[in-house]
Formats: sequence, structure tokens, C-alpha cells
Amino acid sequence: MKKKLFIAGHTGLVGSALARHFGLRSSWEVVTRARKALDLTRQEAVDRFFQEVRPEAVILSAGRVGGILANSKEPAAFVYENLMMEANLIHAAWKAGVKRLINFGSTCMYPRISAQPMKPEQLGTGPLEPTSEPYAVAKWAGLTLCRAYNRQHGTRYTTVIPATVYGANDHFSLEGSHVLSALLTKLHEAAKRGLPEVTLWGTGGSRREFLFSDDLAEAVSLILEWDGSEDPIQVGSGEVVSIARLAAEISKTVGFTGAIRWDASRPDGAPEKSLESSVVRGLGWKPKTDLAGGLRKTYHWFLEHEVKRLDEVIA
Ligand SMILES: NC(=O)c1ccc[n+]([C@@H]2O[C@H](COP(=O)([O-])OP(=O)(O)OC[C@H]3O[C@@H](n4cnc5c(N)ncnc54)[C@H](OP(=O)(O)O)[C@@H]3O)[C@@H](O)[C@H]2O)c1
Repeated sequence: MKKKLFIAGHTGLVGSALARHFGLRSSWEVVTRARKALDLTRQEAVDRFFQEVRPEAVILSAGRVGGILANSKEPAAFVYENLMMEANLIHAAWKAGVKRLINFGSTCMYPRISAQPMKPEQLGTGPLEPTSEPYAVAKWAGLTLCRAYNRQHGTRYTTVIPATVYGANDHFSLEGSHVLSALLTKLHEAAKRGLPEVTLWGTGGSRREFLFSDDLAEAVSLILEWDGSEDPIQVGSGEVVSIARLAAEISKTVGFTGAIRWDASRPDGAPEKSLESSVVRGLGWKPKTDLAGGLRKTYHWFLEHEVKRLDEVIA
């Protein structure tokens, strides 16, 4: 008998990688719901879904997610929607008898200035990065909810904190995207138009640890089956690069040969974000995809979908 696994947010960057991964594993029957069928900010609808479907396990990979610009423009949406989704799903899961749940935290939960690589004991030890504070506070609430339900109700709800994720189904727009997908979109356009130079936000000096979405899915799969009590569990690739190096790597991938200028009047975000990931490494996980290989796969997906979008317009 296959066990039912509800993957919330299966159309997103993280959720789609999870759905692909678990869809291939015989022990799980993956259950998904599109947003138009189940809006996770609606408590009654979420309750009804859990009472009807009764999954054995849940992965909460739905959320309102975005880069610096989106976080700065819509702080209320970032805190409200994430809080609602976490509270509704975690409470409804507990009421329906779900014992195992994976929730996602974020590196934004760490103080803006943190020793690297970041360790869970540093959480809550200093001020947050102001641009993402509303999102980070909602992510904190998710961690706290899981811990509180574990303490009061004996559940095993674990928060996974991944490094900066990229891959298929990322948001490829200049406004709503994370740094990697925004740079890929911009440098792709520049290469296509043969521009002699592009100007990118920030100094290029801040450093990030990039994790390919399919590698994260493998880590989550190990964590879901594991019966340890460590919480949160961090997942980083170990490949920490400056944004300038990332831009150079993306330029190679998309064939942009012009010059890159940096607009230092624009925000950089936190100077560095990398994660201490010894627990998941101890489970035997290590990433299979390096940055250059992951960028190639992501760009391939981007081009396929760009062609599809054009086809739709022409049709
Ligand atoms: N991306 C990263 O680098 C990163 C890093 C650390 C943690 N995380 C965490 O990982 C989780 C997933 O992030 P992601 O990057 O995969 O985000 P994403 O690509 O934006 O996907 C979000 C998913 O949530 C769904 N969703 C949003 N609001 C919903 C609602 N009201 N009802 C139902 N579904 C809703 C979206 O559905 P639609 O397709 O309908 O929009 C989509 O499937 C989040 O909790 C995030 O905090 C991500």
C-alpha cells in the first residue's frame, strides 16, 4: 500500500522538484492541488481537504517567495500569506492525524550579519535584513509552529532550511525573481540583443550558496524518512560564490560576451549566506549538480519555456 504524501506548492521551484522526485518513488502516492482548487490561505478549505484526503505525510513547499524588489514592494503580502499558509496547513495536518511534516525555513531568518557558515544556534541572535524582515518573521513563525506542535502533540514536524535554490519552474522575470533567475533573464536578453554592456544591481560582492532544486529534493526525501529529532535541518551545496562570479558563470551559459557594470547605489542584501549542513551530510546526502551544470539545465528549461510562451502568443 502506498502512503499518501501531500506536496503543497507542487507547481513552484521547490515543490515541482519534490513532485518529480517522489513521483518516481514507489512507496509514496503524491497528492497535489493547484492553487485554484485549494487556496492555502483559506482555513476552512484547507481543513476540508485534510479531512477528506487524510495524507500520511505533508511537505509544505507553498509560499509567497521573491527577491529583494518583490519583498520591498509587497511586505504585507509576504508576511500575511506565508503566516496563513503555515498556520492553516500545520493545524489542519495535526487535526487530521498527520505525524510527519516537512516545513521550509529560509536563510533570511538569520541575522543580517552572521558568522559563516550559519548554524541554527545563531538564529535570533541579531537584527534581520530589513528588506526581507516580514518574510523572515513569517518563516520564524513556521519553525515555531512546528516545534510547538511537536512539544504539545508529539508530532514530528521538521523545518528544513535550504540555501538559495534554483532550477526548473523558478520565476524568470526581472521584477519578482531571485538573484540567479533575474540575472539569467537579464543576461539572456542582453546576449539575444547583442548589447555591449549591462548594468546589474549592487556591488557584485555579496556571496551566496546556490543549491540545485533536484538536489534539495533528494535531501528532503532522506530527511522525510529519517527518524532523528534534529530541527531545523540545513541543506547547502557547499558551493559559495560572489554575485559577480555568478554573473560571469551565467554569461558563459547564455553566451553574453559584453561588459558587466555594477550599480552600487542598489541594495546588495546580506553580505554572505552559507549554511552549515553537517546533519544532512551525515545522512549520506551530497549534491550531484555543480553550479555550471545546474545553470546549463536551468537555462535549457528556460529556453524550452520561452519557446512555448512564444508559441502560445503566435497561436
Ligand atoms: N527558492 C528558494 O531559494 C528558497 C530558499 C529557502 C526556502 N524556500 C522556501 O521553499 C518554499 C517554496 O519556495 P519556492 O521558491 O519553490 O516558491 P515558488 O516557486 O514561488 O512556489 C510557491 C508555490 O506555492 C504556491 N502557492 C503560493 N500561494 C498559494 C496559495 N495561496 N494557495 C495555494 N498555493 C499557493 C504556488 O502556486 P502557484 O503556482 O499557483 O503560484 C507555488 O506552487 C517556500 O516556503 C520558501 O520559503 C525557498
